[in-house]
Amino acid sequence: MKVGIDQIGYFTPNKYVDMVDLAHARNQDPNKFLIGIGQKRMSVADPTQDAVSMGINATLRYINKIDKSKVGLLIFGTESSVDQSKSGSLFVKSALKLDPTVRAFEVKEACFGLTAGVMIAQDFVRLHPDQTAIVIGSDIARYGINTAGEVTQGAGSVSLLISSNPRILEINEGHSAYSEDINDFWRPNYSKTAKVDGKYSTQVYLNFFKHTFSDYKKQKGLETKDFAAIIYHLPFTKMGLKANRLAIEGVDEETNARLMDRFTASKELNANVGNIYTGSLYLSLLSLLENGGLKAGDLIGLFSYGSGAMAEFYSANVVEGYENELDKDADEALLDKRKKLSVPEYEKIFSASLVDPQNNVELTSDEEKGRYYFAGICDDIRQYKVK
Ligand code: CAA
Repeated sequence: MKVGIDQIGYFTPNKYVDMVDLAHARNQDPNKFLIGIGQKRMSVADPTQDAVSMGINATLRYINKIDKSKVGLLIFGTESSVDQSKSGSLFVKSALKLDPTVRAFEVKEACFGLTAGVMIAQDFVRLHPDQTAIVIGSDIARYGINTAGEVTQGAGSVSLLISSNPRILEINEGHSAYSEDINDFWRPNYSKTAKVDGKYSTQVYLNFFKHTFSDYKKQKGLETKDFAAIIYHLPFTKMGLKANRLAIEGVDEETNARLMDRFTASKELNANVGNIYTGSLYLSLLSLLENGGLKAGDLIGLFSYGSGAMAEFYSANVVEGYENELDKDADEALLDKRKKLSVPEYEKIFSASLVDPQNNVELTSDEEKGRYYFAGICDDIRQYKVK
């Protein structure tokens, strides 16, 4: 049975900071941020956009194209959870008016959360081929003002519909997973910003990539040249470039050029949105599908990494007509319509988003019409409204 990604929707908030402005404000050479880190802009979430509202907005991108009565599973992957108990899925289910029979819950393993959801969802669809699953990854990456990780912040969400006979990607059975209990990046319950050992996290990411990629190829009897493209979790695009360089070591010239070109196509959205943790690999997938010139049957390798740390490599094949399911113009418009913030404006918003909202104070949003936003807390209950 063919199971995979039938729809992809992404959302990013309506404000950004330019990396050249940020570099000047931090007394850094702009090329360190643009080339050394590989980021051009980063989206900024004001206090009215959180993991839940962004997840709703990402799913709204395709909800009118699907049969809602078939959705049997709704998984929310995040490391920016809004509640210690209630899952983000239930807020989404309510906003999208999904059937009460849907199984809804949240999963967590750092940036691996959306991939964890995809794996559960594809098993679910293989058992229930007449049902579909919505899997959302939604996060705000916060390291703090004037920290080394600041240039790798961002905000956004990717929502996937997993189904049988998918219209975009068929996921191949089998995977290579690898985990170790380490402290490269984490966020304690008392902190709104991440703790990170940046250089160590980079090393672990690359080691886990080498391990899972070579193990996957061995398992499946594949060689690097069999892949039309390999995509990566992109906390910042230079990270993926380092992994891609490892992937293409020693390959023939044609494979080398193809995998580099496709990597370039896969990082465009990420370079402009920033790190969105759980959604980053799938934002890169969308970027590849829209810019990579892929054809039906092409084999894509996907490397997912979540700090702490857990990695998985798997593969999927491109489905004939996949381009008809995408909306490149609308995806680019989301970026183009964002308001550019000065660095002091961004710092003000950032600082405000570190403060817990006051009970019974309504928030108003400047998002465009039709978008959901967090409207504040009323009697300790979070409120989501549509503009
Ligand atoms: N022109 C061009 N390049 C320049 C430059 C210039 N003027 N100045 C410096 N550079 C290059 C450096 O040579 C370096 O390149 P290499 O990595 O190829 O060596 C690069 O810019 C970065 O420079 P530094 O290493 O000096 O940067 P830094 O000390 O400021 O830290 C970082 C960089 C460790 C990535 C930091 O941004 C960070 O901690 N980020 C968050 C952690 C992270 O994202 N880790 C990734 C794996 S963990 C994960 O994936 C989970 C997740 O989502 C968080």
